[in-house]
Amino acid sequence: MQPAPPILEVRDLCVEYATAGRPVGAVDHVSLDLGAGEFLAIVGESGCGKSTLLFAIARLLSPPARVVAGAVRFKGRDMLGMSERDLREVRWREFSVVMQSAMNALNPVMTIGAQLGDAMTAHARLSARAVQDRSREVLRLIGIDPIHLRAYPHQLSGGMRQRAMIAMALLFTPDLVIMDEPTSAVDVVAQRSLMVQIKELQQQLGFAVLFVTHDMSLVSHFSDRLAVMYAGQVVEVGATRTLFAAPQHPYTRGLMAAFPSIRGARQSLRGIPGTPPDLGDAPPGCRFHPRCPSMMDRCRSDPPVLAPVSQALVRCHLYDDDVPPQH
Ligand SMILES: Nc1ncnc2c1ncn2[C@@H]1O[C@H](COP(=O)(O)OP(=O)(O)O)[C@@H](O)[C@H]1O
Ligand code: SF4
Ligand SMILES: [Mg+2]
Repeated sequence: MQPAPPILEVRDLCVEYATAGRPVGAVDHVSLDLGAGEFLAIVGESGCGKSTLLFAIARLLSPPARVVAGAVRFKGRDMLGMSERDLREVRWREFSVVMQSAMNALNPVMTIGAQLGDAMTAHARLSARAVQDRSREVLRLIGIDPIHLRAYPHQLSGGMRQRAMIAMALLFTPDLVIMDEPTSAVDVVAQRSLMVQIKELQQQLGFAVLFVTHDMSLVSHFSDRLAVMYAGQVVEVGATRTLFAAPQHPYTRGLMAAFPSIRGARQSLRGIPGTPPDLGDAPPGCRFHPRCPSMMDRCRSDPPVLAPVSQALVRCHLYDDDVPPQH
């Protein structure tokens, strides 16, 4: 039997921010596949281009950001060339997005119920009764008592607001849910229970997840595969189990040793000083070379390519096998 084609295919995607100076290449030739029902996590420090990548995939970029090259196919359809009208049909129904901060994404002057209702009636013709029933159903699904349909966002805890956002994303049982650090605004305990719940829902409803986080430990038990991003590029991708058992890229190793305490803040990794580069002026050669404990001469000038290393794909000269033998 042929394996099922991926529901999401990202090919050589490049995104730039136009600035007064040089354009900032926030996403540089990123290629990813996501299978139906699969959970793919994208990890990397703040400023590595994770949100820009997700926004490009979901067609949510706005100027000065612009896709300059590459392709995104969702269920076989060209996402980047899709008309706004077709996009409205697909968004929410077939894929949905959960943003980092529910506080920004929710309307503060509308009740949760009204917002769920608006989202539904904007995308389908439904009776008031059907809207009411479905709203209650999705809230229950994510562990919120439907009594909170009458609540305003500020009346809910941070964790509940994020749950309300996830409920909204699941209104039409999409095939893909794209999540940008959905748990970063809540405390560690709430974060954990939210992750467990996302995973349970994914298994119950069967949607695929594209999940961005800067905290690698958060996804260790939940994702099937991991893509590690550094300075706009994928530097390692493979099965989560494999990457945790045997990380190959020095940056992946550094991330694993670091458990950020200030969530989202730029901070040094334990054992790897410094911060990701300004993407308008990325270092030549390997972009990680100024911080890499294993840096070699050629890393300063030759950009490494993503290539198979045991079970993963790794962008690092440590694994070059075309080095001529030394005599
Ligand atoms: N509005 C903007 N204008 C110029 N550059 C931007 C803008 N937004 C983001 N960037 C650049 O894109 C890079 C990646 O940002 P982002 O995708 O938000 O990273 P992440 O989600 O990994 O923290 C940032 O380091 C920054 O240099
Ligand atoms: S290519 Fe060189 S600098 Fe880059 S991660 Fe590998 S060893 Fe480090
Ligand atoms: Mg981000």
